Amino acid sequence: NAQLHFLAVAAGKEYFGTATDNPELSDSAYVTQLSNTTDFNQITPGNSMKWDATEPSRGIFTFSGGDAIAAQATKNGQLVRGHNCVWHNQLPAWVTNGNFDNATLTSIVQNHCSTLVAHYKGKIALVSWDVINEPFNDDGTFRTSVFFNTMGTSYIQVALNAARAADPGAKLYINDFNIEGTGAKSTAMLNLVKSLKSSGVPIDGVGIQAHLIVGQVPSTIQANLAQFATLGIEVAITELDIRMTLPSTAALLAQQRKDYQTVIAACKATKACVGVTVWDWTDKYSWIPGTFSGQGAACPWDENLVKKPAYDGIVAGFTT
Ligand code: G3I
Repeated sequence: NAQLHFLAVAAGKEYFGTATDNPELSDSAYVTQLSNTTDFNQITPGNSMKWDATEPSRGIFTFSGGDAIAAQATKNGQLVRGHNCVWHNQLPAWVTNGNFDNATLTSIVQNHCSTLVAHYKGKIALVSWDVINEPFNDDGTFRTSVFFNTMGTSYIQVALNAARAADPGAKLYINDFNIEGTGAKSTAMLNLVKSLKSSGVPIDGVGIQAHLIVGQVPSTIQANLAQFATLGIEVAITELDIRMTLPSTAALLAQQRKDYQTVIAACKATKACVGVTVWDWTDKYSWIPGTFSGQGAACPWDENLVKKPAYDGIVAGFTT
């Protein structure tokens, strides 16, 4: 009966964790396993700290959803990853359609980040904040968004500076997907971090989401993590899941076990990789089927909350 957080610590990591979400907290069988700190010593709120949840109207902040997740974590002594301050998705319409000029949007971003980060300062055992989420397109160009279109790349430094001022002790991350292996998008992230550091903008880590596909884990994952580490920052695997085309078969589950092992082993081998978070631990609450029709079974536990071979892959990744 292996225990993922214990194995992560034995491998030199700070934590093993999982995303969770408020509706799931009414499922008592789920909550019992979520509260098992030998597996999960860290949780990330899947939705309730995002902009649409926390500042639904300009200057009106609502923290009830995020606070419920924070309370759940605190009750069990779990760390929390703040997720997230600035993202192009799950924005309230007043931000997206506000037609603000650069100066106004700058103060809106500043106020959102500093109010959000300040609210949780000292209230939770914070592992870090995803201050910027998904700034790049897959080809490494900057993603267009209301922020980029109005402020250019300055929104990134505005948000990071605001977060640092609000909680000087918090580790500040930029988090993105499709930066698991080397390639144009990873190079763009490396260059962004370099340029932020050279201009004195606070940045402590890069979050590698790792929404992966069975049989398609990039072979360069370990080399890629090592490249980020050369910048003198942390990395973390922040949203790991490995999806397949349904139905799941014994062969797919066996490949998925290997794929989980590959990702965990890459983190283990990289001193700067501080921890791993799965994007929910059970297929019962995975976001995959709702987004990728016909795909799923991406998590290490099945929808009946029973461990899959993927669990053993995580164990093997930490121990071999
Ligand atoms: O809140 C509404 C609710 O009022 C409505 O009744 C219901 C009906 O569909 O939808 C609810 O909103 C959903 C929301 O999750 C909260 O449950 C959205 O439809 C749904 O699209 C949204 O999905 C979230 C997704 O981000 C949005 O992009 C997923 O739960 C969440 O796991 C996912 O997480 C993201 C990370 O933040 C960033 N990286 C990628 C990752 C996966 O997409």
